[in-house]
Amino acid sequence: MKNILLIESSPRGNDSYSHQAARSIVNELLARNPGAKVVERNLGENPPPHVGLPFIIGMYAAPEQRTPVQAKALALSDMLIDELLAADTIVLAVPMHNFGPPSTLKAWIDHVARAGRTFSYGPNGPQGLVNGKHAILVVASGGVYSAEPMKPFDFTEPYLRAVLAFLGITEVDVVRVAGVANSAIGPEKALATASAQSKQLLAQIA
Ligand SMILES: Cc1cc2nc3c(=O)[nH]c(=O)nc-3n(C[C@H](O)[C@H](O)[C@H](O)COP(=O)(O)O)c2cc1C
Repeated sequence: MKNILLIESSPRGNDSYSHQAARSIVNELLARNPGAKVVERNLGENPPPHVGLPFIIGMYAAPEQRTPVQAKALALSDMLIDELLAADTIVLAVPMHNFGPPSTLKAWIDHVARAGRTFSYGPNGPQGLVNGKHAILVVASGGVYSAEPMKPFDFTEPYLRAVLAFLGITEVDVVRVAGVANSAIGPEKALATASAQSKQLLAQIA
């Protein structure tokens, strides 16, 4: 393992449980792979803009045909894609917001899912171009979604698994910081469970 990409998407900074659990995983990966490099993207602090018309028109134009406004709109996308392609392990810290990922992470996905760069259309349909990566999702939520009646409300993990697979990332593990707002669980227990899950996962991969 040489390059780790840490994507943080909570607006809560150091108080964020998903950030705390994801950072523990990254620190452990670093301890086991001392030469590894970490690139950090804090989307909560620096949210990518929503994609707009210049982005969409520029995306379908050859780079030399883009207007300056379109080129600027695509520059961040290119940078985020370069970071993704350079990584071999991607750790995503994800707070559940209204049953799905936060809008900052959705904006990041809109910037990195680009035909010709991260997926292509072939004779057999779309094909992911981001191959050979391992993603670890660290999902924090107020409630617990591992069982009925709440399981069908979890659009976070299934959505992220689907979009990552679309891009070619099929090796995905998930750590849940679940139940931080549940009176029977709370943040301390939820983080302890996440830590145990992380240890188990790291024992398998590193
Ligand atoms: C805007 C917003 C929406 C939320 N929606 C949900 C939700 O749909 N389900 C849930 O279980 N918790 C929800 N929560 C609680 C968060 O998932 C919980 O506070 C979690 O710790 C957030 O991750 P973080 O600590 O990394 O910021 C929401 C919190 C916020 C601020």
